[in-house]
Amino acid sequence: MDFLDEILITENKINSKVCELGQKITHDYKDKNLLLVGILKGSIMFFTDLSREINIYNCTLDFIQVSSYTGMIRNNKINILKNLSTEDITNFDVLIIEDILESGHTLEFVKNMINSKNPKSLKTCVLLDKPELHKINIKADYVGFEIPDKFVIGYGMDYNEKYRNLPFIGVLNKKYI
Ligand code: IMP
Ligand code: MG
Repeated sequence: MDFLDEILITENKINSKVCELGQKITHDYKDKNLLLVGILKGSIMFFTDLSREINIYNCTLDFIQVSSYTGMIRNNKINILKNLSTEDITNFDVLIIEDILESGHTLEFVKNMINSKNPKSLKTCVLLDKPELHKINIKADYVGFEIPDKFVIGYGMDYNEKYRNLPFIGVLNKKYI
């Protein structure tokens, strides 16, 4: 796999982190009316694996899709490509599931959008966080791994829509960028 510089997080490490997060969320939400909201497309693998580690089976799953990146370049405007299909979220304890927190703008945008629909409560869960690159003051409530300033692919994350189905998280070789 010459498109990789290194494997940053192996499948095994992802699995045990997802189990750990699932247990915490199960504990924190056992008496709540949980609505999991995945941000497409990057969170797909994390969302499907994590949702099966949350042992609360009357929870509701939904997705929104926003786009703000072309390759590695952030576009100024964040666009909503798909909105929630749950009409009324006022009775739900919403947990947003995101792949990675970089500048923080995407998660902030989605948080504000969902907050404007008056959920009962709102928290966030990200698999990866690049704290050095935050441009705003933001903190996810649940974080899988903190990682350095590297562009990663795999386990849902892409470079120009490629590499999402890698089962681990790797660093893309610069000559492929
Ligand atoms: P932010 O808005 O700068 O925090 O960026 C978050 C979004 O950018 C995530 O939803 C990802 O889709 C994407 N992103 C940020 N860093 C990476 C990366 O290293 N690899 C792949 N996608 C990334
Ligand atoms: Mg994304």
